[in-house]
Amino acid sequence: MPGAAANTGRRRALRDLVRPARIYRRFGLCPVMVMVVTDIPLSSADGLAPARVVVITGGSSGIGRCTARVFARHGWKVGLIARGTAGLAAAVEDVRLAGAIGAIAVADVADSAALERAAESLVAALGPLDAWINAAGNGVYGRLLDVPEAEYRRVTDVTYMGTVNGTRTALRRMMPRDHGTIVNVCSGIAFHGLPLMTSYVGAKAAVRGFGQSVRAELRLSRSRVHVGTVFPPAVNTPFFSHSPSYMGFPSRPVPPVYQPEIVAQALYMAATGKHREMTVSSIVLAFSLVSRLSPALAAWLTERLRFDALLSRDPAALDAEEHTLFTPPLRIFSVHGPFGHRARRWSAQVWLRWNCRKLGDLLSSRRAEQVSRPLRDAPPAPRSLPGPADTAPDPARAGSDAPAAAASDSCR
Ligand SMILES: NC(=O)c1ccc[n+]([C@@H]2O[C@H](COP(=O)([O-])OP(=O)(O)OC[C@H]3O[C@@H](n4cnc5c(N)ncnc54)[C@H](OP(=O)(O)O)[C@@H]3O)[C@@H](O)[C@H]2O)c1
Repeated sequence: MPGAAANTGRRRALRDLVRPARIYRRFGLCPVMVMVVTDIPLSSADGLAPARVVVITGGSSGIGRCTARVFARHGWKVGLIARGTAGLAAAVEDVRLAGAIGAIAVADVADSAALERAAESLVAALGPLDAWINAAGNGVYGRLLDVPEAEYRRVTDVTYMGTVNGTRTALRRMMPRDHGTIVNVCSGIAFHGLPLMTSYVGAKAAVRGFGQSVRAELRLSRSRVHVGTVFPPAVNTPFFSHSPSYMGFPSRPVPPVYQPEIVAQALYMAATGKHREMTVSSIVLAFSLVSRLSPALAAWLTERLRFDALLSRDPAALDAEEHTLFTPPLRIFSVHGPFGHRARRWSAQVWLRWNCRKLGDLLSSRRAEQVSRPLRDAPPAPRSLPGPADTAPDPARAGSDAPAAAASDSCR
């Protein structure tokens, strides 16, 4: 049957190439642009299940772009949403180079109608959603009274309301199928606020509460759709170049700083497992525990942070600055920011989580093999009894729920 599979693959590839033209005609001059890059495995990395579909907001740089690469390497089809067309084009090229299918749609996450149209076009191009990641975000640095109200409000609109809009958009498509996982990218500062970034801290604390509340609602309605929240540490991305600063110098991540690959790997795990809340790195885990066990100690630690820990006098950081709170960047920003020299490339916590999961998958596949071996050796069942076809799971769902680690063992 490999010939038949290849033919189906080719037919699907052609259909995917024709779709964008139809979508573009349908949406005319709406602020959504769709481009599909087919370079083609049309199935997931295991070569059996149909490729799963993830949409990532904020996919044009930093964590979102890095996460797109990880999903692409695991054989997923990847839809990317952001405002900057050049950044999106570069990110979808990453997906193609990883051997997967990608599509992009331009939308401002603060504009719920535009986000709906973007999701519609990506679903039409790639297929129904298995996962949705809300990674779009922006910030502004400075004392509360120095930050203009419009900028403060905009941070909330993008970072908090963008997550709310993204979750609604994804739920509208996942609830009818009773299937899918939404992952909200939050931050370690949601556990306890840091100075000079009040709008961002407020938005991220809201993202955490919002996630808890939606999860409870889904449980009440017995839905199998899952919402998870991931709490990254300070990450070396262009975030700090994109955020306006009222501190006299550009902002910088508070050490210890991690490379975005660590967060991308955690987001992949969150999207393919059922995690309610996932801290990334032992520093965020410790911070979350301290803020719960001893809020006074957490307050004491954060009150000791000085201006200098949050601003950078590094010429590379000055050169990289392009504030994108209201408009998308003109330049293409990559996955990494200018703070790579001291950034950590490894997290014991993420490594342990990833390898425990691989071990779990291995053990359960061994156990499944042992259970099926005596059945294979047994004489055929009488015709009147239900055969394996009557009890076989839906292949599409089996594909979409298959353990992630089985698809590939590499996350970088
Ligand atoms: N870097 C860190 O230290 C850190 C730590 C914890 C959490 N996070 C979170 O991680 C997420 C990704 O940030 P990052 O570090 O990767 O920064 P980044 O490189 O600046 O990425 C931000 C992404 O969001 C998009 N975006 C910004 N405003 C948007 C809007 N109004 N509508 C649609 N897309 C918009 C940007 O694309 P366009 O500009 O092209 O629209 C870009 O793709 C954010 O939620 C951030 O809060 C970051």
